[in-house]
Amino acid sequence: MQKNIKSFEKYKKEYERSIKHPEDFWEGKARNFSWRKRWRNVLSWDFTKPEIKWFEGGKLNITENCLDRHLEKKGNQTAIKWIANDPQEKNINLSYKDLYTQVCKCANVLRKNGVKKGDRICLYMPMVPELAIAVLACARIGAVHSVVFAGFSAKSLSDRINDATCKLLITADGGFRGDKTTPLKEISDEAMKSTPSIERCIVLKRTKSNINMQKNRDFWWHEQMENSNSDCPIEIMDSEDPLFILYTSGSTGKPKGIQHSTAGYMIYTEYSFRNVFQYEDGDIYWCTADIGWITGHSYIVYGPLLAGATTVMFEGTPSYPDAGRFWKIIEENQINIFYTAPTAIRALEAKGMEFVTPYDLSSLKVLGTVGEPINEDAWHWYNKEIGKDNCPIVDTWWQTETGGIMISNLANVTPAKPSFATLPLPGIQPCLVNEKGNELEGNSVEGRLCIKFPWPSIARTIYGDHKRFKETYFSAFHNKYFTGDGCLRDENGMYRITGRVDDVLIVSGHNLGTAEIESAMDEHPNVCETAIVGFPHPIKGNGVYAYVICHNEVANNDLLKKEINDFVAKEVGPIAKADKIQFVNGLPKTRSGKIMRRILRKIAEGNTENIGDTSTLLDPSVVEDIKRSAQ
Ligand code: WT7
Repeated sequence: MQKNIKSFEKYKKEYERSIKHPEDFWEGKARNFSWRKRWRNVLSWDFTKPEIKWFEGGKLNITENCLDRHLEKKGNQTAIKWIANDPQEKNINLSYKDLYTQVCKCANVLRKNGVKKGDRICLYMPMVPELAIAVLACARIGAVHSVVFAGFSAKSLSDRINDATCKLLITADGGFRGDKTTPLKEISDEAMKSTPSIERCIVLKRTKSNINMQKNRDFWWHEQMENSNSDCPIEIMDSEDPLFILYTSGSTGKPKGIQHSTAGYMIYTEYSFRNVFQYEDGDIYWCTADIGWITGHSYIVYGPLLAGATTVMFEGTPSYPDAGRFWKIIEENQINIFYTAPTAIRALEAKGMEFVTPYDLSSLKVLGTVGEPINEDAWHWYNKEIGKDNCPIVDTWWQTETGGIMISNLANVTPAKPSFATLPLPGIQPCLVNEKGNELEGNSVEGRLCIKFPWPSIARTIYGDHKRFKETYFSAFHNKYFTGDGCLRDENGMYRITGRVDDVLIVSGHNLGTAEIESAMDEHPNVCETAIVGFPHPIKGNGVYAYVICHNEVANNDLLKKEINDFVAKEVGPIAKADKIQFVNGLPKTRSGKIMRRILRKIAEGNTENIGDTSTLLDPSVVEDIKRSAQ
């Protein structure tokens, strides 16, 4: 295993080298992995197409690097430590050997069910070890996994299955989360009514609820696994072969299937995992995300396993059975590195210290946050009450599209600054541009965050829609990847992410498209038009504010609001429900028909005084009307 960067001086040197000689730099990292054949060419790229290729000609399998190569030295070390939702239920420790065996068996199950290299497999599962096993089993045989977060609706699930024409669905009878169970098979059945590409469905027994099994289509996981062979040769993959697709919201209603490839993703997730968290052999590492999001892919499954770490996987929620659950898990499992989201930190802070003080948190060495900007208050609480002023907090900025952490301090190695993601990782070349696309040089500047050079884990395309990939990320600014975030660089060159500058809302760290929520609301028979904006929310970071025009004039009708939100839950998922719904008679539109969200955002913030210029509106009186009816 390679050594981590251990000092600020070393970071500066490594960063400089990575910029001057990027190919040498990454080639050095690549040598630490198992390859079946060496690459011909380290990097070829053209952001105008865009086309990016890392380690072309190389042959490998990522699971050989996650599993096989650790067996000799770490075979008995825990790879995945699983903690059940119900505190009474026993934890499961899977050693590297156990995990290897389970992955091989599952991979053979997939092969027996006709899955071949390149086929897309949808995973719609709770946070159980079998989800990680299924992910790795797909990778072992070269199938492309598409994990759909188990909080999404039947409609969202079938849309994603159809977009990627998945051949097989793996789900469970149900999932436990807090005091709720989610009927995953029932939802899958609903989804499979309109997914012609699905040939088979494999069902894991988890909640033991009553479900329907359709003959010749649905098969039990445990029956399939029972007699499956535990020897499964890898599929030999090209560096650039796709590894997975993961959907994320965009500024149209249609989610984007972000596609990552094999070698670059592998090299970058391992490197960033070790260096950001300063992972050392023997550390117990826990990331509280769900594998349904990129954080779970990169920093529960791939990054930690590639580094030979012990990764903790938790099925439940932060507040079940009470708001002390995270801290109890940390004490009981002697967690050393803890990685969570600002929204969870704020929610737990609000519950009060009586849920924290009973627990001994002295095993903690490093804390991390991800998913949205962390406000200074929450940062200080996390630092003082959880880290006891003794653990560096890494504020990690990155995206589904970037595959791995891009801007972050390195724990105990580079300086932290509250609410700043701070400095780019080696190999990452951020820049700020103004609206004209000119790069802002020097320090103390604010603009749009772009990246001007490829890194190994950059997404390669949007599945089935390369044109949209180009338009979304590579067309706003010439020869640069545009992140969609606003950002400032302070007097010392440290980066602070200020939030999205497009029509994407980050709610509780989840990426939601305003257009997606709008079109879900528009499905309600009484809804004529909607406009969604974000507003500052004390726990969620951003809340969802909906302006709704109905066919018949309605006053403040709570039943109708609930019905509208039921449509959102059904079409998108419960996470996208509006926190506030305001019925209006009109929306502020420009003469060309574009909704001026800037105005709606101001009103949603409760700022009705400084609306700014409304002269370009088709009908400025609409604004007065909305202000009057705002709650
Ligand atoms: C968007 C990406 C990265 C995995 C989880 C979210 C926001 C993410 C931070 C941070 C400020 C952050 C950005 C980004 N974001 N991390 N540390 N500080 N903002 O992945 O769903 O693809 O969302 O999350 O706005 O663009 P995602």
